Amino acid sequence: MPELFLAGGTVLDATGTRRAHVRVVDGMVVETGDGIEAGPRAQVLDASAAVVCPGLVDLHTHLRQPGNEEAETVESGSRAGALGGYTALVAMPNTDPPIDSAAVVRQVLELGRASLCEVAVAGAITMGRAGERLAPLAEMAEMGVRLFTDDGAGVQDGRLMRRALEYALPLGITLAQHCEDASLAAGSVMNEGEWSSRLGLPGQPAEAEELMVMRDIALARMTGGRLHFLHLSTAGSVAMVGAAKAQGLAVTAEATPHHLALTESCLSGYDPNFKVNPPLRTERDRAAVRRGLADGVIDAIATDHAPHTQEAKEMPLDQAPPGMVGLETALAVAHTELCSGEGPLMSLAELLAALTWRPAAIAGLHTRHGGPIEAGRPANLCVFDPTARWRVDPEAMATRSRNSPFGGREMTGRVRHTIRAGEAVVIDGQAQR
Ligand code: DOR
Repeated sequence: MPELFLAGGTVLDATGTRRAHVRVVDGMVVETGDGIEAGPRAQVLDASAAVVCPGLVDLHTHLRQPGNEEAETVESGSRAGALGGYTALVAMPNTDPPIDSAAVVRQVLELGRASLCEVAVAGAITMGRAGERLAPLAEMAEMGVRLFTDDGAGVQDGRLMRRALEYALPLGITLAQHCEDASLAAGSVMNEGEWSSRLGLPGQPAEAEELMVMRDIALARMTGGRLHFLHLSTAGSVAMVGAAKAQGLAVTAEATPHHLALTESCLSGYDPNFKVNPPLRTERDRAAVRRGLADGVIDAIATDHAPHTQEAKEMPLDQAPPGMVGLETALAVAHTELCSGEGPLMSLAELLAALTWRPAAIAGLHTRHGGPIEAGRPANLCVFDPTARWRVDPEAMATRSRNSPFGGREMTGRVRHTIRAGEAVVIDGQAQR
């Protein structure tokens, strides 16, 4: 691999900000500084007017392989991730077959080996994600799996969830919950409230999420187990997680770019691209999720990248599957919403904490991802131009699916280059293989 030289950027990591070039050799950062020079045969990439940060880490990616390769593959999803500045993705287990055994873990890890992002795997908590019997957590943990979830559904049975938390504790793994009471959410298409009444659509109350958040906080307290709350969407959930953290419980939480940016009113045109689980909520909920992120109650921004074929998303709203693609827009959406315009809610450094080093720690990927950017560290990096303006075009995306809710929207901030294990996999916004 040729030497790589990132020239003229501002390095931003958990240790702070500085003007520095970055020299990369054999997959590692070997030198950083203002006065350093590129070697004679180095590949020089322009980082001027841009920020050089650790590559992003997504805690929540649906890569759809095995089983739904029409919507996404590990390869296409990883390419989408690299274009979005990601160097590591955690693949969700709601595949077909689900990732509930060592054999399927091995298969997905194998598929990820040649892809543009490092692919880690989340295992299922229960066999077949059916919520009845525990999956072989120890066997999967032995293969390096750190996060377990039945995402797409929550574990409904409190006794089983308690057992899973107890079992997980000595294994040093984290259970990630999709908080949704299936009976309260049954048949819903969107959030229950003023808009669902107005549109005549069946709604899902905030309580469908909040009851499970409440139960799982109680179970975390009871067992001492480690819990991560996936895609929190309501003000009540954020308040409960904040209180649990204040009590010192081992809980972490994530929010998605779409819950930070959009509300239930987006469903007014009955467009299935705005159908997602948990559903887009009220303005008050959106504000609470944003505030929770700014306050650190919510640790990470995770995409919940959920590709679906055009055929599936063209079905009527009640039949179309929930989910939105997000890997190629997450950083830009979050930056546009939270860091730019008048009265930004947070600094770029705070935003990147939620997209890189904090999720890297939650996923147990921090030895390779999330920085700091200094000699001796693996070169998993993103070069981001915070002033570049562009318009989202789902047709131009690398994901196999087109179900973005942000099509046509103007963004401020764009990924310029992505470096994965020392290789420039994206240069000037173009995937290199
Ligand atoms: O909207 C969603 N889509 N929410 C989930 O939890 C699952 C996901 C999917 O797999 O499509």
